[in-house]
Amino acid sequence: MRKIVIAGNWKMYKTQTESLEFLQGFMHSLEETPDSREIVLCPPFTDLGIISKSLHGSRVQLGAQNVHWEDYGAYTGEISGPMLTEIGVRYVIVGHSERRQYFGETDETVNKRLKAAQSYHLTPILCVGESKQQRDTGETEALIVTQLKKGLIGVDQHNLIIAYEPIWAIGTGDTCETKEANRVIGLIRSQLTNPDVPIQYGGSVKPDNIDEIMAQPEIDGVLVGGASLQPDSFARIVNYQ
Ligand code: PGA
Repeated sequence: MRKIVIAGNWKMYKTQTESLEFLQGFMHSLEETPDSREIVLCPPFTDLGIISKSLHGSRVQLGAQNVHWEDYGAYTGEISGPMLTEIGVRYVIVGHSERRQYFGETDETVNKRLKAAQSYHLTPILCVGESKQQRDTGETEALIVTQLKKGLIGVDQHNLIIAYEPIWAIGTGDTCETKEANRVIGLIRSQLTNPDVPIQYGGSVKPDNIDEIMAQPEIDGVLVGGASLQPDSFARIVNYQ
């Protein structure tokens, strides 16, 4: 059975005060959420400690937005697996397109981060997806197969989530057509040795398209940016019909 995982990626949004305000508005909406859905919040590093305390004993799991491959060392601006697990983090996003695009992340560094995460029993959420130009020139399939092949060398597919995030759909309001997202996610699954890896869709997921997205047979959840910042909209997403 494939697990359903709904994750909010807050990117570089929300101070500690704002993150607590979010929880106040959001937590009660989980009373309606079926137990089978795993709910994950991935705030900025500075919010992790305080949110971890607030979430203690709740069903919401905590995720980070990146992890380094070393346990410690002279890596200014980075954060390590032991630092995350000590405060109760269970998931970590790896290889988000914004990391690849703006911070020089490559399939090789993604691979190292994935393995480091797993060595600390964190569940990595590996992001893959093509740019508009790559889609227009028919490179989508080949690119995704390469991202998976290089990213997953030596990675345990029994502790892994993958997010298909077409770059042109992120933050643009231009959602990938649900049938097309379903098709690409099927292609991703065909590349895996474990068919039960949950595969999410990400890219302009909103309250008004979540039901249609989750109705697709290959899609096991969503990775939500903008619409996870407001309690009401994220509540509607986790309580999809
Ligand atoms: P978006 O971001 O929902 O704001 O498009 C998704 C993501 O980057 O994970």
